[in-house]
Amino acid sequence: MNAKTTDTSQTAAQTAADPAAASATAAPTTMTAAVQTRYAGPEEIHVDTIAVPKPGEGEVLVAVHAAGVDRGVWHLATGRPLVIRAIGFGLRRPKQPVQGTDVAGVVAAVGAGVTRFTVGDEVYGTTDGTYAEYAVAKEDRLALKPAAASFAEAGAMPVSAIAALQAVQDSAQVEAGQRVLILGASGGVGSYATQIAVAAGATVTGVASAAKADLVRELGAARVIDYRSTEVTALDETFDVIIDTGGLTPLRKLRRILSPTGTLVIVGGEGGDALLGGSGRSLVSGLVSMFSKQRMTGVMTASNAARLERLSALVESGAVRAAVTRTYPLDRAADAVTDLAAGRIAGKASVVVRDAR
Ligand SMILES: NC(=O)c1ccc[n+]([C@@H]2O[C@H](COP(=O)([O-])OP(=O)(O)OC[C@H]3O[C@@H](n4cnc5c(N)ncnc54)[C@H](OP(=O)(O)O)[C@@H]3O)[C@@H](O)[C@H]2O)c1
Repeated sequence: MNAKTTDTSQTAAQTAADPAAASATAAPTTMTAAVQTRYAGPEEIHVDTIAVPKPGEGEVLVAVHAAGVDRGVWHLATGRPLVIRAIGFGLRRPKQPVQGTDVAGVVAAVGAGVTRFTVGDEVYGTTDGTYAEYAVAKEDRLALKPAAASFAEAGAMPVSAIAALQAVQDSAQVEAGQRVLILGASGGVGSYATQIAVAAGATVTGVASAAKADLVRELGAARVIDYRSTEVTALDETFDVIIDTGGLTPLRKLRRILSPTGTLVIVGGEGGDALLGGSGRSLVSGLVSMFSKQRMTGVMTASNAARLERLSALVESGAVRAAVTRTYPLDRAADAVTDLAAGRIAGKASVVVRDAR
């Protein structure tokens, strides 16, 4: 970890030591954050002291307790694939220097016009710059944190679990009795997709590395296939639904194991070319689908209050949990992103800024 500045202000340090103070007292003016000022590897992420952001109209200031780690953070740290620079994240350097997108924490202040939250509410959702003691979020991208989840768990949900919710419920509309294959079932999105499909009554086959197979079984998969020893697309069986979150398997191979009227939902996959990375298959899947009885679609996920509330219901019912297997303090955010990119994290990891409970 590259700790370029450790000069945390007295007030911020006091607040970090006493989470309750974050909501009970006014926020300090400076805070510690994990920042990155140029595209490189996650090793560029370092802690620094910066100004606490101010909530504008319709926004709240969240005293961050935990923030999840997902592949998107790695993409924003590296500026790869190049397409992400062109769609608003900063052409030459990251527009938002503070890393992190998921957030779970306590509302510390509210901006003008905020109606859904008051100071002291425990919330979760997405915004920019969450690897920090404070982050500003639009109120319509937050929901009350499910009581059944700790901050570390809730912080590891929004990006990955909403992607899974959209893929399994909205795009594939998984139903009871269906045979569902989840590629990448041990990962962030896949660990939630597995549970959401099982909750719908499907029989899930998960594809993951052997080392993480036990976790996938614990999440409800009936069977786990190790992609390193078995070519899953050579199986002599078909699936009603395939949710693809890892491996960049060519569409034509996936269609071989998709039932004649089945649905393939492509969430993502790492690798691919410098410009589009793993998103190329999503872009062509809709086109291929037009000429087939098999339905193929990419999914572009967007977390919002309504989807978070749907997720909360699943969490409160006990059907879905965050499979957080590692936590990191804020000054090790770089290690968290490095470990994720290296495949060292089973399920989810969280960066813990304050009390994780
Ligand atoms: N479309 C969207 O809006 C959206 C939203 C969220 C994420 N994504 C994308 O979705 C992908 C998954 O994200 P994530 O956060 O879940 O990543 P992750 O936590 O790193 O999980 C990746 C998963 O892929 C598995 N995997 C790796 N190689 C594989 C192969 N050859 N065959 C089958 N599975 C393989 C991994 O298994 P092991 O770890 O067991 O080796 C792991 O389960 C990323 O590309 C991400 O950018 C897209």
